[in-house]
Amino acid sequence: MKNTKIIAVANQKGGVAKTTTAINVGVALALRGKKVLLIDFDPQESLSQFFDCYAAERNIAGLMYNIINKRDCDVAEYVIHNEINGVDFIPSELNAMNKIEKDLISVRSKETVLKRLFAKHSELVDKYDYVIIDCLASLNVLLDNALTAADYVLIPCQASPMSFGALPNLILQVKDIQDELNSDLNILGIVTTMYSKTNICKKAKEMIDQTYKELVFKTYIDQMSVVAESPMKEKAVVLSAAKNNRVAAQYRALAEEVDERA
Ligand SMILES: Nc1ncnc2c1ncn2[C@@H]1O[C@H](COP(=O)(O)OP(=O)(O)OP(=O)(O)O)[C@@H](O)[C@H]1O
Ligand SMILES: [Mg+2]
Repeated sequence: MKNTKIIAVANQKGGVAKTTTAINVGVALALRGKKVLLIDFDPQESLSQFFDCYAAERNIAGLMYNIINKRDCDVAEYVIHNEINGVDFIPSELNAMNKIEKDLISVRSKETVLKRLFAKHSELVDKYDYVIIDCLASLNVLLDNALTAADYVLIPCQASPMSFGALPNLILQVKDIQDELNSDLNILGIVTTMYSKTNICKKAKEMIDQTYKELVFKTYIDQMSVVAESPMKEKAVVLSAAKNNRVAAQYRALAEEVDERA
């Protein structure tokens, strides 16, 4: 478990490119020769569906229930290999995730279930250089679990004033988790996403850069229709070799920075 870096991709704001970043950084790290496990930690199943996996019976919530109920299981049966993108993933499932969010209320040490899961299945975690958790858009107990289990949090922030304005609350929650549950947690960095050369984007990027300084990755991600239109069940944008696909090159550069910082 020692050499595996666990990264939670988090922002309570919806639609800021958490899932896009988790997938593309994960696949780009795999391109760099790293072994990568992605975990879909969002009831919306966006990451699972990208990998053509719907309503998976064996999902991350199921694994967490096994921890809560002290049931043994073969964790390998929950891991799916995606050949095209060169990564493994554990899917999410809408109902199970919604149920566990409620059930966790009455569980002792409710924020540590995912951490205990990683500890129990350390032989699986140990196989990977990176475990990347695609978090849901909330500051709820599931996010607490991701932040408690992670070494790092990677924060995608859309180049918009509203997205910028949402960062202090997230950082406050990270600080709470650092103080109370996981002193090893660090902010890996903030990446500006969906940038375009409009005045409002430029202003938002400036505010992010000036406020968070060295926390902000040098790489930022442009808004490009090719990302929004990228077909499901396909290759991650980062695998595109097209010279005009700036976002592919940017996500590869971001993965390089992630690899240096982690
Ligand atoms: N660089 C980009 N250029 C254009 N569209 C993008 C870009 N990055 C992400 N998108 C699109 O923006 C939408 C939101 O992205 P994504 O699902 O990754 O965000 P999210 O933060 O995971 O959302 P949620 O909070 O719902 O989980 C998607 O339709 C995605 O395809
Ligand atoms: Mg998402």
